[in-house]
Amino acid sequence: MTQDIAVSELTEDQARAELAALAETLAAANDAYHRDDAPEISDAEYDALKRRNAEIEARFPSLKRPDSPSDQVGAAPAEGFSKVTHAVRMMSLGNAFDETDVEDFDASLRRYLNWPGDEPLAYTAEPKIDGLSLSLRYENGKLVQAATRGDGEMGENVTANARTIDTIPTEISGAPDVLEVRGEVYMRHDDFEALNESQQAKGGKTFANPRNAAAGSLRQLNPEITRARPLAFFAYSWGELSEPLADTQMEAINRLRDMGFQTNDLTRLCDTTQDMIAHYRAIEAQRATLGYDIDGVVYKVNRLDLQARLGFRSTTPRWAIAHKFPAELAWTRLEAIDIQVGRTGALSPVARLTPVTVGGVVVSNATLHNEDYIAGRDSKGEVIRDGKDIRIGDWVQVYRAGDVIPKVADVDLSKRADDAEPYAFPTTCPECGSDAVREEGDAVRRCTGGLICPAQQIEKLKHFVSRAAFDIEGLGAKQVEQFARDCWIAEPADIFELEANYGSGLQQLKNREGWGEKSAQKLFDAINERRKIPLARVIFGLGIRHVGEQASNLLATHYGSWDAFITAMQEAQGMDGPAWDDLLGVDGVGQVMAASLIAAFGQEAESAAIDRLAAKLSIQDAEKPQIEGSPVAGKTVVFTGTLEKMTRAEAKARAEALGAKVSGSVSSKTDLLVAGPGAGSKAKKATELGIETIDEDGWLDLIGAS
Ligand code: IVH
Repeated sequence: MTQDIAVSELTEDQARAELAALAETLAAANDAYHRDDAPEISDAEYDALKRRNAEIEARFPSLKRPDSPSDQVGAAPAEGFSKVTHAVRMMSLGNAFDETDVEDFDASLRRYLNWPGDEPLAYTAEPKIDGLSLSLRYENGKLVQAATRGDGEMGENVTANARTIDTIPTEISGAPDVLEVRGEVYMRHDDFEALNESQQAKGGKTFANPRNAAAGSLRQLNPEITRARPLAFFAYSWGELSEPLADTQMEAINRLRDMGFQTNDLTRLCDTTQDMIAHYRAIEAQRATLGYDIDGVVYKVNRLDLQARLGFRSTTPRWAIAHKFPAELAWTRLEAIDIQVGRTGALSPVARLTPVTVGGVVVSNATLHNEDYIAGRDSKGEVIRDGKDIRIGDWVQVYRAGDVIPKVADVDLSKRADDAEPYAFPTTCPECGSDAVREEGDAVRRCTGGLICPAQQIEKLKHFVSRAAFDIEGLGAKQVEQFARDCWIAEPADIFELEANYGSGLQQLKNREGWGEKSAQKLFDAINERRKIPLARVIFGLGIRHVGEQASNLLATHYGSWDAFITAMQEAQGMDGPAWDDLLGVDGVGQVMAASLIAAFGQEAESAAIDRLAAKLSIQDAEKPQIEGSPVAGKTVVFTGTLEKMTRAEAKARAEALGAKVSGSVSSKTDLLVAGPGAGSKAKKATELGIETIDEDGWLDLIGAS
């Protein structure tokens, strides 16, 4: 042993050996202390060993071990975790709720792939683990980074914590140089119960369910706490790879298993939707005895080349779907119906319930959707719940599935009071008293108060500061509510006047409860920083009905600059003529969205508020996607007629991947028309406008895919 030798006297070999011994001793001491609640050495001894370890590392920095004890305690940054940008976005999954959804999924993939109905299309089927997803990055076989999903693009760096999980190997062999393994961190039921018992005994925090316990345990700033928590990891997917893992999903998962990852042994290969559903039923039957929570079955196209062809929507892969287990149910009393007014004036009825536990969570509010739903009809006017309406005082069935907002599903008429009255949906806005009207074809009744309605004002402001919009640090829903309530802000432009109005003078932000000199200045700085802002965020931030994040991006890319965008919105006011046609030609913009945009810019008050906002900003032009070497990058392409070698959706996805913009209609902005057999008016218009027209083979030649 070298412990008695002064650090300054140690040779390199002695130092290496002692660091290894210290890592082991300290890890064992940590386990004994945190996991087993049975410390083996005194705190003072523990501290002395840690100090010695740090001193040796300071003298021989190159010998610092990847599992160094100095990285494991108090190593996490004081203010939360550092952020990690995922090399490949972490996706979520689309959902199927019944067999028809599964059949529709298979049918849509077959259409997309042009896959004959009688030819097997194989899928893997595996349990959907109810935990939290984690991405593990290995370089040359060594675990170098672990990150939570976060928003899919950026997650939290939880490397030190992940290293403490037994089922996550820190070294693997036989792997590509770069391998990101993705999967789910979860907690087994028995471990969860033991953890809660020991937490209770210690007077610590207990958890509502294993998923929360897993999340709370992984996201600990002190990795030693994570080490003491019984977490496990199932690998089911991957991110960046320096070389492919295999040709199929099944083989890839088996390779991960062979490298030492835990993979789920209920994963099966299915050739038909019947097989998939049979396996779903088999897994469902074992659900209660698995020992860990699952909330459905995930189907994935087995062939990885087909997965690549199918690609992704904005947040979900086309080639996979989660078949969820039915929601969990409970009965309780409907105490009241409250009406909430949303950003676009929609009146949403909310059920206030006598609290009841549904699937482990206490539920006291649930959505009632809209007035038809309460009356016993769906949005098409067809009878639901056998026509039973919902009345205050009724016994109602509440259900929730996963994170979905709880819903009121059914009513027990046998328990209805004799004097219960049908619910009269308000025809005026409960917030501002303006008329609430229901337009034809709209399931929702809306307040007509516009910006005079305080509820709409606040919701619009909340939307304006939300993440995908202006995302102003320190200005969240809570602060917006506070400022709006006190009439400090009424519209987005006012946010940019906060410093001028409340940075000095009689009323100052820094003097308000919860604020100080520093936090106030920080907020003003954060606001000022956002004066320079990308076009897409501004469009989205306006909160125009039907204009979501994706549409805002498309509009920004299409128009390029704020000036071009508002000019177009003014020119299209008549809903006729070239500007209107051009708007409708934007991929993803339909009549409804276009009309909503026109209405927003046509309304005097709203358009003046938009002008006031724009005057305070420096709006950055949108960049056109530039795909290197692509012959169609930045070009606007229209497909028409029948395509024989690919589906329309596939053609569109490919063109977009090459940086082209795909439009639904021909205009002077169109660069290229791809016309298959049966092309009609669009081909004619293209000829009139002198637009280059090619056939499907010409297109495939052009993009190098023939
Ligand atoms: S595959 C690109 N497989 O479910 C494919 N996800 O609701 C991405 N999940 O974010 C996911 N079990 O956290 C996949 N066997 C499984 C899964 C699974 C649980 C989680 C995952 C995902 C979420 C989507």
